[in-house]
Amino acid sequence: MNLKDKYIDFFVSKGHKQIPSAPVVPENDPSVLFNTAGMQPLIPYLMGETHPLGTRLVDYQKCIRTTDLDEVGDMTHHTFFEMLGNWSLGDYFKKESISWSFEFLTKVLNIPVNRLAVTVFKGDDKVPYDKEAHDLWLNLGISEGHIASTTEDNFWAAGETGPCGTDTEIFYFRSDEDIPEVFDTEDDRWVEIWNNVFMQFKRNKDGSIENLPKKNVDTGMGYERVVAVLEGKTDNYTSSLWIDVIKLIESISNKKYIGNEESMRIIADHIRTAVFILADDAKIKPSNKDQGYIVRRLIRRAIRHAKKLGIEINSNWEQEIAELIISKYSNYYEELIRNKKDVLEALNKEKNKFNKTLEKGLKEFEKISDKDIDGITAFHLFDTYGFPLELTIELAKEKNLKVDIEGYNQKFKEHQELSRNSSQGKFKGGLAGDSEIETRYHTATHLLNAALKVVVSPDCHQMGSNITTERMRFDFNCDHKLSDEEKKKVEDLVNKWIKEELPVTKEEMTKQEAIDSGAECMFIEKYPDIVTVYSIGDVSKELCGGPHVKNTKEIGEFKIKKEESSSQGIRRIKAVIK
Ligand code: ALA
Repeated sequence: MNLKDKYIDFFVSKGHKQIPSAPVVPENDPSVLFNTAGMQPLIPYLMGETHPLGTRLVDYQKCIRTTDLDEVGDMTHHTFFEMLGNWSLGDYFKKESISWSFEFLTKVLNIPVNRLAVTVFKGDDKVPYDKEAHDLWLNLGISEGHIASTTEDNFWAAGETGPCGTDTEIFYFRSDEDIPEVFDTEDDRWVEIWNNVFMQFKRNKDGSIENLPKKNVDTGMGYERVVAVLEGKTDNYTSSLWIDVIKLIESISNKKYIGNEESMRIIADHIRTAVFILADDAKIKPSNKDQGYIVRRLIRRAIRHAKKLGIEINSNWEQEIAELIISKYSNYYEELIRNKKDVLEALNKEKNKFNKTLEKGLKEFEKISDKDIDGITAFHLFDTYGFPLELTIELAKEKNLKVDIEGYNQKFKEHQELSRNSSQGKFKGGLAGDSEIETRYHTATHLLNAALKVVVSPDCHQMGSNITTERMRFDFNCDHKLSDEEKKKVEDLVNKWIKEELPVTKEEMTKQEAIDSGAECMFIEKYPDIVTVYSIGDVSKELCGGPHVKNTKEIGEFKIKKEESSSQGIRRIKAVIK
């Protein structure tokens, strides 16, 4: 029996009812393009509504996450994945949740206890240390050394507002080396396999937290990852879930996986995700908007990599791969059978459409690629030859050239006239509420923005941000992963400015005056004619709606927790203030 069935059976034996996977395109939630977690379709029930199937639920949920598109091609990233989850809606809580997770892992999957480690919530000024979770794990037989605690990674929320809570994460030691007695969360031989969230709070717009009517449990286990880990594979694409798809691509291309991993992984991943999007009853078709644009980019990137492998694009290669995927998954997702014809047709149509311009576009690219690609050229490649940005970036990278992503985005935006909803999704201002802590975080984002310009490049700009009461997230354009030294310098510079007790001042002016004054003005068209500009000493000047602290000394100590890719050409910093 496979892991998915074992999981469902186990929780059914503990009184859970199996619920079907919700569609990948959320039915009543225009704020997100796809379901990204198992709990997303269950939000109303976690908030207190009664579920028709009762208070104990279990499922496997189709999820799509496309912010990491450019990371696909490595061993572990996928744009589609299945999340196994079990829920208590005001029924059981920590004790049962933890002991059933333990029982499933050690008795059903037969994982030796010593190979497991856990984290629990460390405590902050609002919510205390989760001693109960700690003691439950200890009593079950997890050694003290294998129980760590964090604040940042042990509080889970789907969004800025809504249900949330502390969690306990379970890790598996995937290496053949000796298992350390003390679990170090930074040691990547420990892989997170399961997250149990104790959803007892609701976060409001102002950042305050209150109790939900009932205490819930929400858990999530990434199917792909756990299958690979249990099979001892570091490369997910060599696990039993993928190997037949890879073998098929090997036979179609007449090439070996070894040596062609990147292209084969991209084809396998992108065609699978495209199949699931096209099979959804929302009837998405490739287009230049929202979900349609995501599926278009996936298909076009797969085509380009098929070409790279020497596959004859006019042959039936994409149909063969899609058919294999449909047959692999149709026992679980009947819409794949029901909508099979639509899926295959849409894939074929999009392929033919792109194939007409691909060759010409590649020739054009050869002509113009004697220098870095500016925004207008990148947009021309999109507009005339249908090259999505990541394709142009990929081609440019192969020639060691840069692409002006920002310039492209600007052009793209002008031409798209994106609907309000989708543009909000992409360029949403970062401020969730205006509690004191969020205000401090907000001013810190301006300092971070300024520090990146000094340390990394004057061309770094904010591409998005998101603030909660626990942390800030800041996206900026940058063509490389920051080195430890760069991170340290950025952090030190922000802290230096904080220590300098710089005043924060606010002025009103016209947009033109703001531009002339040299203020940072991203997405200027979003703002009214009269704008507010915030200055911090003479280190930062940004057009912004506020609110901000009066003096940088109010911010506290700034610390970078993580720096990672957010999407093509965009990096993301997660930081906290103390
Ligand atoms: N909702 C939790 C997660 O996605 C379980 O990690």
